[in-house]
Amino acid sequence: MARIVCPYHQWTYELDGRLLWARDMPSDFDLPQHGLKAINCRDLNGLVYICLADEAPDFEAFSQLAAPYLQVHDLQNARVAHTSTIVEKANWKLVWENNRECYHCESNHPSLCRSFPLDPEVAGVRPDGSTPERLQAHFTRCEDAGVPAQFRIDEDGQYRLARMPLQGNAVSYTLDGEAGVKRPLGHVGLPDAGTLMKFHYPSTWGHFLPDQSMTFRVTPIGPMETAVTTTWLVHKDAVEGVDYDLDRLTTVWLHTNDEDRVVVENNQRGIESPAYVPGPYSPEQESGVSQFVDWYCERLRTGQPMSQIAIHQS
Ligand SMILES: [Fe+2]
Repeated sequence: MARIVCPYHQWTYELDGRLLWARDMPSDFDLPQHGLKAINCRDLNGLVYICLADEAPDFEAFSQLAAPYLQVHDLQNARVAHTSTIVEKANWKLVWENNRECYHCESNHPSLCRSFPLDPEVAGVRPDGSTPERLQAHFTRCEDAGVPAQFRIDEDGQYRLARMPLQGNAVSYTLDGEAGVKRPLGHVGLPDAGTLMKFHYPSTWGHFLPDQSMTFRVTPIGPMETAVTTTWLVHKDAVEGVDYDLDRLTTVWLHTNDEDRVVVENNQRGIESPAYVPGPYSPEQESGVSQFVDWYCERLRTGQPMSQIAIHQS
């Protein structure tokens, strides 16, 4: 039977947080008074969101929007194939700004650019809310096949979902563009459905593909340090060495994350220069960055607390 055991002194807890046993404590030690603290927690189709605030922000609107998109990925039957955490010596906002554009991709991400499209509309947000015809054609083809795909963004800009086509014939984030896992996670009946791209400020983004899924968690450690945790998810019955090769599965994003770390840290160093003057964003290439900055500034302007939502795979 599963228990939670503290590695420090082996106090042992029930999965609901009740303290069951504490070694060498007095006979009148009150176990029920020393259980684990409760936190706000929601399970969204296998993605577990937690919030450390006393009162969690509303989760319903996001949950209702995201559930059908995620449902086809069957994350309840996922298994963690690999987890990587890197620390980027830069402010959290720079990590997000880097994520929200692919202006930098062609010159920095040789592995990723074998599958991820350079079309700036993929990461971008049109100010008028319209959708380019080439992307709408992909959304329609997916949805006709029962795979939710349409671009949707929160009216306050906190989250977005869209299933974007990959480059050429690529179906997954591998060096050859072919599937990374033979036993797929989910039931996306369209091999070239591309990647369901989800961001949910301030702490998570994800890529959900027909064969595998990946979640990314962005955690500020301090003003100049941000941890980025990437989790590769495969079907719970997928066997390493049989259904997938771990190096092949992870190499593209391990390289991409490290390449992003370099450019983000360089960006931070530049901003710290006394000669630093902010430059303009490219409307064509960086509409996603503008969208993030607008969301962030609006949160500050209206004094809304930054929700402390983090994502973990169950
Ligand atoms: Fe990047």
